[in-house]
Amino acid sequence: MVDARAVIRELQEMREDGHLSDALLRYAARTLYRVDERYDWVGVYLLDDEGAELWLHNYFGAPTEHSRIPVGQGVCGTAVAHGANQNVPDVNEFEGYLSCNPGVNSELVVLIRAGNEIYGQFDIDSHRPAAFENQDEVAIQMIADKLAEQIARERR
Ligand code: SME
Repeated sequence: MVDARAVIRELQEMREDGHLSDALLRYAARTLYRVDERYDWVGVYLLDDEGAELWLHNYFGAPTEHSRIPVGQGVCGTAVAHGANQNVPDVNEFEGYLSCNPGVNSELVVLIRAGNEIYGQFDIDSHRPAAFENQDEVAIQMIADKLAEQIARERR
């Protein structure tokens, strides 16, 4: 399990050193990918200005054809449409699931948001069935909230 507090401390140091959200988002995705062997693919999608599509910002793991995902489609687009994180224990049971890789069995999407404003999300795939626990979501949400602070500052 990722040590969210340690990641947040590092993100804060990066901010103090002048790094922008691009660098922070990459650092966070890379760290999640490296620290937990259940996380077989970790990506960040950002919502476009119109709030219509998610654009792939960066990822670690196998290449994906889903560089853009319309809001409302797949697990990723559903999270935005409903304004709610998605923990999907069996992707084969998810209607409208967008497959990246046949080896994936479960998926967790955690929104990067400030209140009602959604900036994007972490999308994590696992080859294991039902890989994600509530603790994963809580830890990743803490990291996402830290990233949202920086994104909000840049968009002011
Ligand atoms: N499975 C996602 C698409 C993105 S890939 O997992 C990288 C979905 O259903 O939205």
